[in-house]
Amino acid sequence: MLIQSTIPNLRAAIGNKGRIVFVPTMGSLHAGHIALMRQARALGDTVVASIFVNRLQFGPNEDFDKYPRTFEDDCAKLAAAGVDALFAPSERDLYPVPQTYQVDPGAIQDELEGRFRPGHFRGVATVVLKLFNIVQPQVALFGKKDYQQLIILRNMTCQLALPIEIVGAETIRTNDGLALSSRNAYLSPNERAEAPRLHRVLQQIREAIVRGERNFAELERRAAAELNANDWKTDYVAVRRQADLQAPQESGEAALVIVAAARLGATRLIDNIEITAPFGH
Ligand code: PAJ
Repeated sequence: MLIQSTIPNLRAAIGNKGRIVFVPTMGSLHAGHIALMRQARALGDTVVASIFVNRLQFGPNEDFDKYPRTFEDDCAKLAAAGVDALFAPSERDLYPVPQTYQVDPGAIQDELEGRFRPGHFRGVATVVLKLFNIVQPQVALFGKKDYQQLIILRNMTCQLALPIEIVGAETIRTNDGLALSSRNAYLSPNERAEAPRLHRVLQQIREAIVRGERNFAELERRAAAELNANDWKTDYVAVRRQADLQAPQESGEAALVIVAAARLGATRLIDNIEITAPFGH
């Protein structure tokens, strides 16, 4: 696997390498990331991954400094997964001057995750557009684990007419249902045992909707109450439309997704679950 840290070297290394499939990451790689790499392998000729902990998408009180960094391990995992090239720039390589030109995703950036992480999606959209311009892939893969991120990047690609196909990949979980996340490393043993409840409450909402329940606000309220009764601090639990993450009508609707974010001790976890039509009425 080629490893490059500068924009010109990366461009020289991957020019003329057929259909390029790109998987951006912030490193600290787990089986969820590696599943993306394996899917990427099947979608094109050259798989390019990136590792860059993007300061622009972290708020002033977030975990930029303590975000786990495991570069050597990450390289071994990427090579084993068949990745052809890794772009791992330093901050100076990627942001040699202050990044004053940024991508504004519009109103969706202030909803759900955005209400609790102001500026986050602007930072994500900006770095991903910049990475797209550097790598120039035909296909890019993102996990459904970060559902709002996937929708925002799909919209960006569409509205800015980027010639890139955006592929969403299923969330990889442990056996007890917890979605894999680099931030799971922050959980104490007791918190780790409690963490799968987030996925369980989402499954309960899905089951209720499939049975025909349509009082979404009540389902959201009950789920948040169950989390809070077990020492979570819930930021949101919300039933939304998959396509644009807006609130659905209570009268029948197509594909839905239930998104949630809650804090367990000092760790903030997010998860979501899709409900694909047809379901009960
Ligand atoms: P990061 O959190 O490292 O995630 C990189 C990719 O892996 C994202 O597309 C994310 O959705 C996906 N992913 C994470 N956990 C997953 C899981 N359990 N199952 C499946 N996919 C999973 O997301 C980012 O980095 C950054 O915001 C980035 C897009 C790289 C921009 O900086």
